[in-house]
Amino acid sequence: MSEKVTKLLKDKTRIRQEEINQAMDFALTQIMDNLKEFTCHFKKAYSENGFYQATENVNWTTGFWTGQIWLAWEWARKKGLAREADALKEAGQVQIDSFLERINEKREVDHHDMGFLYSPSCVAGYKLIGSQKGREAAIKAADQLITRFHPVGEFIQAWGPMDQPENYRFIIDCLLNLPLLYWASEETGKERYHEIAEKHIHTAIANVIREDYSTWHTFFMNMETGEPDHGATCQGYRDGSAWARGQAWGVYGTAVAYRYTKRKRYIEDFKHVTGYFLEHLPSDLVPYWDLEFGEGDEEPRDSSSASIAACGMLEMAKYMEPEDGAYYREIAEMIMKSLVDHYRVTSMETSNGLVLHSTYSKKSPYNTCTPEGVDACNIWGDYFYMEALTRLSGEWNPYW
Ligand code: GLY
Repeated sequence: MSEKVTKLLKDKTRIRQEEINQAMDFALTQIMDNLKEFTCHFKKAYSENGFYQATENVNWTTGFWTGQIWLAWEWARKKGLAREADALKEAGQVQIDSFLERINEKREVDHHDMGFLYSPSCVAGYKLIGSQKGREAAIKAADQLITRFHPVGEFIQAWGPMDQPENYRFIIDCLLNLPLLYWASEETGKERYHEIAEKHIHTAIANVIREDYSTWHTFFMNMETGEPDHGATCQGYRDGSAWARGQAWGVYGTAVAYRYTKRKRYIEDFKHVTGYFLEHLPSDLVPYWDLEFGEGDEEPRDSSSASIAACGMLEMAKYMEPEDGAYYREIAEMIMKSLVDHYRVTSMETSNGLVLHSTYSKKSPYNTCTPEGVDACNIWGDYFYMEALTRLSGEWNPYW
């Protein structure tokens, strides 16, 4: 690791088990309280003035709320809290019904985010309580996802109508949508799902990592030849910068890619992408929304990127040589310490979320996103924060 990173981490402390327990206990209390409003409804993607409003099951983000319910269910069971566990299980099942209806009606599913929607909700429900509706919904979601695969270029198209040059691209985030396909292959015995996942992973990792190990958010392929064309940003500051969450998806994405493919070079890719992420962190280990910005800049943070990267490090640590694994685990513990000490919600009076200071999409003069959810809680930030704490508190069978 570079001297810069060694210096950055020198005086940092790791989160203790007792602090993890307290943070998870608060998350459980908050989620139990949330169930009144968010069982038949979902939380919106981000909070406004500290509070999430209710939404129908729309957008790419609702699975992260159901995922929090399942993580809270696991925590309640671990603590022997039967009443809480029963209420959470019931709520999780109501939400799975909604996901099944959504995929049956094909409501807002014409994009690649089937994994974000269906892994932490329906795959989790199937793995944890054997929900058959969860299984059915998730297999249908996998079927939907593979309709977006382009044999010319070998990738899954992210957004928009298929077969238009302006939409002929994938995005780095998609690496987290692919575990759904591996799971579907395992469940059904059909190889097509994982074959497509493997092709996409190969195309994505081969093109999305730049020479300096920063990453492109989105990458266009040539529609006629299938050759790589060019990278561009949507939610980052500018095309050539590294959007913090894109880089964090790269950290977790390369870990997941290794887990499923066992290609050794993805361990090296993980180390490089993670190294770039760490080298561009400010002293409290929580990135600004784009890694272009650093210590002292008047720009918002994206705390969700810190949790996502921590989860990626904890996942990859499982497959590394013990010394390397311990190194990344320690860094994840330091990141989570900072989030728990300085970013988490501590009072239900001020917020109905879990982690403050995330940024969904910030407009810059050079990017193409719609501005929303700047310096707020966001739903995947809350989810990955819980996932990282859950991973740090013992063995955990991933929903991904
Ligand atoms: N996957 C979209 C985002 O991270 O904002």
